[in-house]
Amino acid sequence: IPVEPFDLVVFGATGDLSQRKLLPALYQRQRAGQFSEPTRIIGAARTEMNDDQFRELAKKAIVEHVPPSEIDAAELDRFLKRLTYVPVDARTGGGFPALKEQLGNDETIRAFYLAVAPAIFGDFVRQIEEHRLNTPTARIIVEKPIGRSLVTARHVNEIVGSVFDERHIFRIDHYLGKETVQNLMALRFANAMYEPLWNNAHIDHVQITVAESVGIEGRADYYDKAGALRDMVQNHMLQLLCLVAMEPPSSLDADAVRDEKLKVLRALKPINGSNAERCTVRGQYRAGASAEGPVKSYIDDLGGVPSNTETFVALKAEIGNWRWAGVPFYLRTGKRLAARVSEIVIEFKPIPHSIFGEGAGPVFANQLVIRLQPDEGVKQWIMIKDPGPGGMRLRHVPLDMSFAESFKDRNPDAYERLIMDVIRGNQTLFMRRDEVEAAWHWIDPIIAAWEDNKQPVQLYTAGTWGPSASIALIEREGRTWHESI
Ligand code: BG6
Repeated sequence: IPVEPFDLVVFGATGDLSQRKLLPALYQRQRAGQFSEPTRIIGAARTEMNDDQFRELAKKAIVEHVPPSEIDAAELDRFLKRLTYVPVDARTGGGFPALKEQLGNDETIRAFYLAVAPAIFGDFVRQIEEHRLNTPTARIIVEKPIGRSLVTARHVNEIVGSVFDERHIFRIDHYLGKETVQNLMALRFANAMYEPLWNNAHIDHVQITVAESVGIEGRADYYDKAGALRDMVQNHMLQLLCLVAMEPPSSLDADAVRDEKLKVLRALKPINGSNAERCTVRGQYRAGASAEGPVKSYIDDLGGVPSNTETFVALKAEIGNWRWAGVPFYLRTGKRLAARVSEIVIEFKPIPHSIFGEGAGPVFANQLVIRLQPDEGVKQWIMIKDPGPGGMRLRHVPLDMSFAESFKDRNPDAYERLIMDVIRGNQTLFMRRDEVEAAWHWIDPIIAAWEDNKQPVQLYTAGTWGPSASIALIEREGRTWHESI
């Protein structure tokens, strides 16, 4: 269904995010017929260039990041015609009057995408205000990192909030735009069979793994100041945890959903000075191998600078409420791990009593494995009788749903859905200010404890599943990480 005509201004349009994600996503929406006339996409950045040069840059980015079978020359041409470019300088306000000229009338929906470094969010917001670009329907899209602590996140939120109403601020966590992440809500709330079991009476524990095989991909400056806890856990992993753990919202209304997620964040038991060493593992990759061949250590990726930044983190989180008391949530994420795989494992409790003799073999606990990426799908592991005349022997097998097999359509990128939601004014998949701050409120003491205890990083060989301490974290409690590949 087409959305209303809109003006989208991409600040930082020549940058990495814009080229890798935003321009390809917008092209895909053009191809899907979602734009009405006159929709304008205006690139803005410091680099001096004209419309044609920007269109050339956009074309290159799209051809590089969209599969060839999805490039339609006529659509691409129509898309490029929508693009214009204005050089701007957020510090001086240079270019903003020209930008204003390009925008449609005040009634047209207008969105500003801050695809720029957070340190200059404030400059952009100030120029938007000074040049009176914030019409009543204007929205602003903010990318992570939103701060690097509670105090700095509040600062960013204050700055953006001084010019835009909360209902016009769209804080992107691109994990929420992933199809399989949205599917968590369908799985939980469109099926009657899970919810009655979805609690500490029936669930033994939950695992959330977001493993990456890539390293830091030329982002050494940012990454070394952030580390895995800030880069992945504060946002993506906690959002996944919230969607697994929240109470059923009364509807998909943005605040109904976000209220429930917020309650989960606020119920997380603190990890601080006294228990950080027991509940968290920090790791850093040393040289090893990936599927493509030998890879350097993190320190070498930094150019030989010593660093105590973690490229891996595993932790045990607990939610202090009636539903989840006593159910550990084990989280792990890292760079240069054995594979790229994100998944959520819900492990149910064992059967209370076995009627089968020893010859039947072990009775494994049921597991629901939700594979977020790649090979998206859902597997419900159950026990069955091994067919054959040899008596009762049990086997653990999956009921297996694969998105690729079940649906022929392409799986749209998260940004396609999220940008269109901004235009539709739907905030359900965006983080509210209090959510972001509650997440930092839980993360800050972990970082403080690491600093106070001087908790070192444990080295792991690139291409493995992280330091052995991560395995010990879960195994000393009688559980094991699900084998993802
Ligand atoms: C980003 C992180 O938010 O998410 C990156 O900054 C990480 O470090 C990326 O690689 C992972 O996203 P995806 O969609 O590739 O799983």
